[in-house]
Amino acid sequence: MPNFDSPTLLCDEALRDPYPIYRRMREKGPVYHDHLADAWCILDFDLVRDVLQDSNGFSSHHLADRAEPVLGARVLAQMTGAEHDEKKAVTMRGIAATAMDGYYLPAIERVVKSLWEEIGTTRRTELVCDLASPFATEVTSALLGIDAQWRRKILPWNRSVVEFITLLQQTPDERSRRLADAGYFRAFSLNLIESRRRSPRHDLVSYLAERGSSAGLTDDEIVALALNIFLAASEPLDKTLSYLVHETLRTPTLYEAVTSDSGNIPQMLTETLRLHPPVQIIPRITVGSQDIAGTKIPDGSTVYCMIGAANRDPSKFSDPDKFILARRENSVRKAFSPSADHLAFGSGLHFCIGAMLARRQLETAFQASLPYLAGWQLSKDALVEHGLYTRGPTELVLEKRK
Ligand code: HEM
Repeated sequence: MPNFDSPTLLCDEALRDPYPIYRRMREKGPVYHDHLADAWCILDFDLVRDVLQDSNGFSSHHLADRAEPVLGARVLAQMTGAEHDEKKAVTMRGIAATAMDGYYLPAIERVVKSLWEEIGTTRRTELVCDLASPFATEVTSALLGIDAQWRRKILPWNRSVVEFITLLQQTPDERSRRLADAGYFRAFSLNLIESRRRSPRHDLVSYLAERGSSAGLTDDEIVALALNIFLAASEPLDKTLSYLVHETLRTPTLYEAVTSDSGNIPQMLTETLRLHPPVQIIPRITVGSQDIAGTKIPDGSTVYCMIGAANRDPSKFSDPDKFILARRENSVRKAFSPSADHLAFGSGLHFCIGAMLARRQLETAFQASLPYLAGWQLSKDALVEHGLYTRGPTELVLEKRK
């Protein structure tokens, strides 16, 4: 039975549907201390953006314990100042050189079409497993340069890395298993760097193996970055494609809007990211005591930037729980830049490096899916969602139209 006086993120209800909990927290003020989670939850859109933009007052130092043991070195999210800017810039140039060309997007289209052809041989499909996850793995592996025969092999290693970073509790056995898996993933990636340095190809690892050191990236940091990109890119892509399909199939007017005019696809994606941000919580640690909207937060406290709550802040978005395709307060023009009206890609120094790429990947995959969707409908109770830090569909069941 949920406790209405002291809402907490540490309950099963939050994993199933956190939005009622966010609302109850918001009723208590824009900054809520979750005693059980021992975290200060920031719920208001403007306050979340302010915290994310203040990297001096709110750091990502927690990643030294949560991520470094599995990634093996510091990643961009832990860096600040000139070091961060240089290493982020060379990575972004690598992404542009590798994926913003004439080859990558047609390859995504081919992957998605072939997944749909396979799905078409059945009468019922679970789309997360049959489309969204393989799409996300394929396009991220292709970006990094991970060959097809390795793509399935690395998935359990990646799962262990994700679990190590995001789960609040783990037994000593789980911890050792995850550390061992992360070790295999790092050894594999180091091999990949060495092999691409000997014979470069058209992929991000080749680019960073050749040019990364000019920006001060060591091989261990390139490995950490590759693992970081694998998890940072694939999970949100998988979840967002599933939500795009779900929203389209459950609302005939949306289906009509995107199939009659592909110019509506960017807006469809923009509103999906606002309503269903796959990264729901961005943690930060206070550096010195901080005052947020009159609440004093002691030095070294954990602050949760509640992206899911901020993106449905009623003082910023009218009818915030509703999907509105041409929403005025969520401009598509800015939606994939640091000045976006939603916070799905974060804000400030650590704004997502892959926002523009994600736009291209998702628009291409969604557009390629539209002709196939005509033959399918949502089954009863089609959607199962799960997750707190990252959240999205774990099941999306479709059945063929009669
Ligand atoms: C729908 C897709 C995506 C979503 C919703 C998303 C979300 C985010 C968010 C919220 C952050 C900020 C984290 C923080 O402030 O601590 C972030 C950072 C980051 N993302 Fe993404 N992301 C997506 C796709 C991608 C892709 C495709 C890539 C890689 C190609 C990527 C790589 C990264 C990296 C490396 C960072 C850290 C940047 C830094 O610290 O400066 N993401 N992402």
